[in-house]
Amino acid sequence: MAVDSPTLKIRRSGPLRGACRVPGDKSISHRALLFGALADGVVEARGLGRGGDNLSTAAALRALGVEIALAGDEATVHGVGFDGLRAAAGALDCGNSGTTIRLLMGLVAGRPFGSELMGDASLTRRPMRRVADPLRRMGAAVEGRTDPARPGDVFPPLRVRGGALTAIDYELPVASAQLKSALVLAGLQARGVTRLREPGRSRDHTERMLRFLGAPISVDAASGAVVVDPGGWNGRLRAVPILIPGDLSSATFLFVAAATVAGSDVTVENVGLNPTRSGALDVLTAMGASIEITGAGEAMGEPVGAVRVRASRLRGVKVAGELALRSLDEIPALAVAAALAEGETVFEDLAELRVKESDRIVAVARELRRAGVGVEERPDGLVVTGLGTRPPSGGTVKPEHDHRIAMAGAILGLSAADETTVPAADIATSFPTFAETLGALGAPI
Ligand code: S3P
Repeated sequence: MAVDSPTLKIRRSGPLRGACRVPGDKSISHRALLFGALADGVVEARGLGRGGDNLSTAAALRALGVEIALAGDEATVHGVGFDGLRAAAGALDCGNSGTTIRLLMGLVAGRPFGSELMGDASLTRRPMRRVADPLRRMGAAVEGRTDPARPGDVFPPLRVRGGALTAIDYELPVASAQLKSALVLAGLQARGVTRLREPGRSRDHTERMLRFLGAPISVDAASGAVVVDPGGWNGRLRAVPILIPGDLSSATFLFVAAATVAGSDVTVENVGLNPTRSGALDVLTAMGASIEITGAGEAMGEPVGAVRVRASRLRGVKVAGELALRSLDEIPALAVAAALAEGETVFEDLAELRVKESDRIVAVARELRRAGVGVEERPDGLVVTGLGTRPPSGGTVKPEHDHRIAMAGAILGLSAADETTVPAADIATSFPTFAETLGALGAPI
């Protein structure tokens, strides 16, 4: 098992078997740290994801004056409330994490000081106008790097001059939980009622957790709009313990591995099953995978359960519309299932994949082609022609700082005729125990 080595080597695998857990949900962990920092006292968070992205959020909050102690998967966050945040001495380094930079933009937009936000080479290429525009309309000054090749947009490093904000009634140009959450954080600090409508329903962890912590946030049943009404609110979030379930996005790599490696039978315990995130389970089921959910319960308003996946022959399907939105982060993993299925899988309505940690349409197409899989790139998706019973070829995966491309390459390698190598460093962004977990299930990694 090459856990600490900078390169993972993966060979064709025999059956994967056993039960395991995955690290805490990355999206929920960001929110636990951020909202914990805004709470009225000490917040203990258990099951925290310890990937690079979550560590970026912790480091940025510390730079804003919040004391955070991390031990294993537990965090003790000494909440200071909105008013307790202090200007950072230097730029807030958000690393590889879009969630960190975008949520922080909304947070510092309402603070009476200036902040600089930056990140790594991948984050520096990601579009921020979607957040900058509405924050400017609310009254914040946001400046950033411009790029002549992508006129009109703005990119990190960013400078946000916060201050008194006014609520907005806003139709988001894209379904995005990062954008929605940034505007919720700004709305909580604004004068008036903020209403946010999305073209599709993005993940709703922010709404669920903030409601749990006592924030004045609701969802209008008729329109689906998120409503933030801070009038009469004392500005405080409850300091209560936060329990974070396992990350469904990380678990999906194990589901695909189990579904595609003959003879496998794998159970992932304590996985978050939020319906705005669980599209991959529906896609895999439609492909013919054997999936069983047991012990379903709830933790802090988030559904949780154990997921058992057994290998079976998969067939191609169409993934579009709201199913595509609910599977957004899982497309690299699902593309591996499509590559090993019988027939064609069409992925549509996924233009957002082009502005993730990498252009995931380009990256998935590149990695599947390398492995000998037929793939057609489209402006908003991919068409993958499954290999059926033929094995893919191994080779060297080039994730280009995208953790999900690295893990997808590794999972495909479990079925490959020859060895696959994957640079391991990027995987630590979200799933530092990936190789160890697969190894314990019997994978030759
Ligand atoms: C996330 C929202 C999604 C998702 C990302 C995490 C979040 O991004 O792709 O991995 O935690 O809010 P968008 O909001 O850009 O769709």
